[in-house]
Amino acid sequence: MQGPIYRYLAEDHDRLDELFRKAAADRNNIDTIAYAQFRSGLLHHIRMEETVLLPAALRLQGGRPLAIAERIRMDHGALTALMVPPPDGSVINTVRAILQVHNALEEQEGGMYQVCEQLAGEEAESLLRQLKDVPEVPLHPHNPKPEILEATRRAVERAGHTMKAG
Ligand SMILES: [Fe+2]
Ligand SMILES: [Fe+2]
Repeated sequence: MQGPIYRYLAEDHDRLDELFRKAAADRNNIDTIAYAQFRSGLLHHIRMEETVLLPAALRLQGGRPLAIAERIRMDHGALTALMVPPPDGSVINTVRAILQVHNALEEQEGGMYQVCEQLAGEEAESLLRQLKDVPEVPLHPHNPKPEILEATRRAVERAGHTMKAG
């Protein structure tokens, strides 16, 4: 089933994929404008899922979290951490690898979006409005300090992923 929630969030994945492709098309020369748009869009997308979708699923299941919620949240933590350092080849390759698996978990048959859509039932349109009402995330400048990159690497590993080579 692909209802309004599925379509809205999957289209946002496509939009972000396109920005990411544009940002990283020349790996030695990141398109900083496209990357800034990707970064703010990704953080906003994660906020929609964390503040509207997952809480709604929890409520609609009578307080029981989705089986996949923890996996999804760990990926969000890793992706958020990856948005802090400036994008080098290693950050780019790691973001690409995590997003590929993560977005599939959400979009696939029986994945998070379909489960949420089914749980929402007649509430789907109202949930969609709530998703659309989520404000943008205020952005901080990238932090180039080595200890930040190290903290990012730990967040990536905590989520069960590995930092890719550049
Ligand atoms: Fe997500
Ligand atoms: Fe998503």
